[in-house]
Amino acid sequence: MIIKEKLKNPIFCIVAMNENRIIGDGKNLLWHIPSDLKRLKKMTMGSPLIMGRKTWDSIGRPLPGRANIVLTNSISWSADGAMVVNSFEDAITKADEWISVNTKINQNIIQKKIFLFGGAEIYKLGLKYCDNIEMTKVKFNIKNGIKFPKLNENNWEKTKLEHHLAINDIPEHSYWHYRRKL
Ligand SMILES: NC(=O)c1ccc[n+]([C@@H]2O[C@H](COP(=O)([O-])OP(=O)(O)OC[C@H]3O[C@@H](n4cnc5c(N)ncnc54)[C@H](OP(=O)(O)O)[C@@H]3O)[C@@H](O)[C@H]2O)c1
Repeated sequence: MIIKEKLKNPIFCIVAMNENRIIGDGKNLLWHIPSDLKRLKKMTMGSPLIMGRKTWDSIGRPLPGRANIVLTNSISWSADGAMVVNSFEDAITKADEWISVNTKINQNIIQKKIFLFGGAEIYKLGLKYCDNIEMTKVKFNIKNGIKFPKLNENNWEKTKLEHHLAINDIPEHSYWHYRRKL
């Protein structure tokens, strides 16, 4: 059993969603926001990422400079560059081990934090262990798709960091930091 207070490294959730909490169509993201991807890269570099097998499939390759920990129920699934686990508890153990045995990956210093990388099934499993969410809110008119779990808004202190208006086919979006209230 995972006891949040005993986590060795904090788990940060990172997500981009629209007004209806839609994060993707089950295969891919629904929008392409290059600056958001750049920001995500900068933020996660040197950290372990915990993702579901479907998110791994949608990316199709390991994200460099990070540990790519992939949750699947399959005991035979494997992919180059993926650290495969069969339970969320094992994902955290693997992430902690990776942080403790590495000091650098490529040129990047290891960050002592774990990212809950999605998709929805993985957010559902891990959100209760997160005190921080790096959230991109995207103005994108779609009602159906894969949804981020509903948050109890009263439990979170929200800070809007940046706002970007739509340009060409890049939708309006804003960056938020959510911090769990104690
Ligand atoms: N907007 C964002 O920030 C963001 C971030 C990430 C992903 N996404 C999008 O989200 C969508 C995918 O999300 P999703 O919810 O459908 O899938 P997912 O969470 O990426 O992966 C689900 C898979 O994880 C494995 N899994 C789940 N719970 C498990 C458990 N308790 N033990 C072992 N394995 C477990 C299973 O793999 P097996 O089937 O192999 O057993 C399951 O099918 C895509 O559209 C992607 O583009 C969006």
